[in-house]
Amino acid sequence: MTADRPRPLVIAHRGASEDAPEHSLAAYRRAIADGADALECDVRLTADGHLVCVHDRRVDRTSNGRGAVSALELAQLAELDFGSWKGPSGAESPDAVDPERTTVLTLERLLRLVGEADRPVGLAIETKHPTRWAGQVEERLLTLLERYPVPGPVHVMSFSARSLRRVRQHAPELPTVYLMQFLLPRHRGGRLPPGNRVAGPGIRVLRRDPGYVDRAHRAGHLVFVWTVDEPADVELCARLGVDAIITNRPRTVREQLAGL
Ligand code: G3P
Ligand code: CA
Repeated sequence: MTADRPRPLVIAHRGASEDAPEHSLAAYRRAIADGADALECDVRLTADGHLVCVHDRRVDRTSNGRGAVSALELAQLAELDFGSWKGPSGAESPDAVDPERTTVLTLERLLRLVGEADRPVGLAIETKHPTRWAGQVEERLLTLLERYPVPGPVHVMSFSARSLRRVRQHAPELPTVYLMQFLLPRHRGGRLPPGNRVAGPGIRVLRRDPGYVDRAHRAGHLVFVWTVDEPADVELCARLGVDAIITNRPRTVREQLAGL
């Protein structure tokens, strides 16, 4: 990296999820040990009002259960195995079950982990399909953030401009990241829905349109890019001067950035 341009932050996507089951406590511990600057997580509301870190609407892909997260209570989710689909950790006998790899993770537990870290670690929390909950996801999220202060920078991210507006209504100081899978014509020039400080394009956007980073910067936004695992994409992001790289492989990405 050049001296006048700081290296991008490295944000661990669902934890160090290449090495451990996504969204498990083990994946987040690993990400912290691997030197991630911040941790990304998706949050969903359970039937009894808890925020849990699960990506999909249903639990089928990442657990041995079935059904929508929103239809299950936390106690029911806690009965499921959210880790074995990823295979054994390698550090133990094949039969051993490590609850830190297999137990559903609540946002509350993740916040406590971050608070216990021996250095400031940030969080990038994504609200998933929040519109149907009429603000409950954002309210619960902000209550938890107040109760468990995070020593590093906190960002709230979403593909939903409405969800991010709700967050800013209650917490105007909290920076929000507007996620984009592709650029709508009104965003191509670098502008975002009003109030958002950070642009969150997928890496495919930058492969097709590398000039976007400059345009977003000129419009006054930081640029956080997801999900960047390939060395050529890391190199592209570094060359374009993005502000954060969201990756499943925080250690590898940090090492690559250090060598550029
Ligand atoms: O960090 C943003 C990224 O996580 C959005 O995509 O599907 O992995 O949640 P997804
Ligand atoms: Ca996400």
